[in-house]
Amino acid sequence: ALERTYAMVKPDGVKRGLVGEVLRRLEHKGFKIVGMKLMQIPRATAEEHYGEHRGKPFFEGLVSFITSGPVVAMVVEGENAIAEWRKMMGATNPKDAAPGTLRGDFAATIDENIVHGSDAPETAEREIGIFFKPEELL
Ligand code: CMP
Repeated sequence: ALERTYAMVKPDGVKRGLVGEVLRRLEHKGFKIVGMKLMQIPRATAEEHYGEHRGKPFFEGLVSFITSGPVVAMVVEGENAIAEWRKMMGATNPKDAAPGTLRGDFAATIDENIVHGSDAPETAEREIGIFFKPEELL
């Protein structure tokens, strides 16, 4: 099915100059970028985005990290975009991420794993709504 997903280059990816690499892979795969912005995520927005992790031991560190510098927030459209983008990212823990995936190729630790992608259609809709107004999607 034609889907939209929320994709993000995290602060470590931006700092390390990997924005172009991420965009290159998405574009070469044939995905359409329908929304994109550079932003520093406000704390409240980060807490909302990561709401499902509230109470977990890594929650505070996760919120601090994701608000620590600019991210590139994107909405990506394509066939099975949600699962396909997750395949391109690789496993959450870079130790388990296959070579050829973004995390397999570029990330070293679970806390700084370069990219984010929604894990299901409901999550994608929710996350897109947190970061984009309807009129920002072209
Ligand atoms: P992501 O799936 O994009 O969103 C939640 C993030 O929490 C995850 O990436 C990891 O970067 C981070 N994280 C840190 N520790 C853990 C853990 N033990 N399990 C899952 N995610 C973790």
